Amino acid sequence: MKLSSTRLVKIVFFPLVFLCQGYFATSQAVPNVNQGKELEKNKCYTCHSQKSGLGDGNIIYTRADRKVKTLARLNTMVSTCNSELRLDLFPEDEADIAAYLNQQFYKLSK
Ligand code: HEC
Repeated sequence: MKLSSTRLVKIVFFPLVFLCQGYFATSQAVPNVNQGKELEKNKCYTCHSQKSGLGDGNIIYTRADRKVKTLARLNTMVSTCNSELRLDLFPEDEADIAAYLNQQFYKLSK
C-alpha cells in the first residue's frame, strides 16, 4: 500500500505540530510564585537570616542598601546564589523564586 502525501501530512505533520505546541506551552509557563516561596523558605531563608545577623531572612531583600535594583539584576542574583552555593535548582525554579521575590519584596517593573 502506498501512502498519499495528504495522508502522510495528517499522520506525521499534525502530531508534530501538536507536540511542538505542547513543548512551547510548558517551557514558557508562567512562573509559579507559590512554588518560589516554598523554595526560598527551604533553600535561601536561613542563610540570609544568619548572614544579616538580624534573625530574619527577608531583611536582605528590603534593606535600604540592597543590591537588586532591576529585574535583570534580580535574575542574576538568584542565579549566582544558586550556582555558587550549588543549591541545585533548575532554571524554572530560579524563575519561580525571582517571581516570588519581586512580587513580595522588590516590586520592580523593569
Ligand atoms: C550560604 C548563604 C546563602 C544562601 C544559601 C543564599 N544566599 Fe542569597 N545572599 C547571601 C549573602 C551573604 C548575600 C548578600 C551579598 C551582598 O550583600 O553582597 C545574599 C544576597 C542575595 C540577594 C540580593 C539581596 C539584595 O541586596 O537585594 C538575593 C536576591 C539573593 N541573595 C537570593 C538568594 C536566593 C534566591 C537563594 C536561594 C536559592 C539564596 N540567595 C541563597 C547568602 C546566601
